[in-house]
Amino acid sequence: MADWPAGLARGWHPVAYPHELDDKPLAARLMDRPLVLFRGGEGIAILEDRCPHRNAPLSAGRIAGGLIECPYHGWKFDRLGRCRYVAGSREVAKHEVRSLAVREHAGLLWTTLADQPDAMPQLPPETADPGFDSFWWPLPPSRAAIGDAIENLVDPIHAYFLHPGLVRRSRETHAVEIDFTVEPAGASACYTEPKEGMTSLQRLTEGSRTVSWGRYRAPAQVQITFEDRQGVHASISVVFSPVSGEETRPFACFSTRRGRIPAWAKRMFIIAFHRRVLAQDLDMLKLQADQCERFGGRSYHQGPLDMFGPVIWAGLNGRPLEPARRYLRLTDQG
Ligand code: FES
Ligand SMILES: [Fe+2]
Repeated sequence: MADWPAGLARGWHPVAYPHELDDKPLAARLMDRPLVLFRGGEGIAILEDRCPHRNAPLSAGRIAGGLIECPYHGWKFDRLGRCRYVAGSREVAKHEVRSLAVREHAGLLWTTLADQPDAMPQLPPETADPGFDSFWWPLPPSRAAIGDAIENLVDPIHAYFLHPGLVRRSRETHAVEIDFTVEPAGASACYTEPKEGMTSLQRLTEGSRTVSWGRYRAPAQVQITFEDRQGVHASISVVFSPVSGEETRPFACFSTRRGRIPAWAKRMFIIAFHRRVLAQDLDMLKLQADQCERFGGRSYHQGPLDMFGPVIWAGLNGRPLEPARRYLRLTDQG
C-alpha cells in the first residue's frame, strides 16, 4: 500500500453518494483500503471489507436484519463491526471488523482512516445556496493519481491543447491576466481574458462573463467559478477522493445561478458538454499514469505557468502554504 501524504491521511474523504446505497452492501475503496458500506439497523455503516474469520469480502455478502452477513460461512456483523451471529453456533466470535467513522455531509458520505482527523472540509457556498441550481454528477473512479487529477482541473493551459473547440476556441493562447494568490489553506487564480479566446458557445452562454477563477483548497478540493456583472453565475466544485495510488474518484457538483432556464435543461446541457471535456481529460490522465508506470515513477519539472503544482503538492502533504501573490500574463500567441 502506498505511503499516503499527511494531508490526505489526516483528512475526511467522500466515498459514496447516499443514493448509491440500497439494500445491498456497497464496495468502495479509500487510500488502497477496501471498504464496505451498508445501511445498518441504526444508520449507515462503513467497515473494512474483510471478514475476520477467513477474510472473505463482506461486500459480496448481504444485509439481513440490519446486519451484514459474510458470504462464506454466514457470520454477521453490526454497524460497529461486532460479530453478532456465528452460523451453526450459539456463541459469537470476539473478533471485530474495523469500523470507520461515517458522516453524511453536503450530500456525500464521508469517512476517514485517521484516528484524529482534521476538521470536515467545507464545500463552496454555491453548492448549498438556494439561489443556485446545483446537482452532483456521479462519476466512477478514474485512472489518475490524486495530485495529477487535481492539477488537471485547475490548470488553465492544457485547455488550449486538450480541449480546443470546447473549453477554448483554438490552440492559440490569448493574452490573459492572471492574479494568483496563495493562502495558508489553498490558492486561487483570477483570470481576466478577452472574448476572442472563448468558444462561440461560451460567448452565447457567458456573454457578460467578466472573470473566472480556479481555486484549490487543501487537501483535495477544486472550484472553477465564472462571474458576470452580478457575481458568480456558474461554478464546478470537485472533491477528489483518493481511491488508490493510481485511482481517484471525483465528486463533482455543478451550480448555476437560478434563472429562466429550468434546472433539468441546464443539467442536460452541462452533462452533454462536460462528458466530452471529461473524456479528453481522462484519456490524458490515463496516458500520464501509464507513462509514470512505464518509467517507474514521476519526474516532474515546474514550468513558468505551473503556479498550482507546488501548492497542490504542499497541500496534499499537509504543509501550511506560504501566503504570496503573483501577477502573470499569458502571452498572446494568436
Ligand atoms: S470468511 Fe466470513 S464467515 Fe468465514
Ligand atoms: Fe481539462
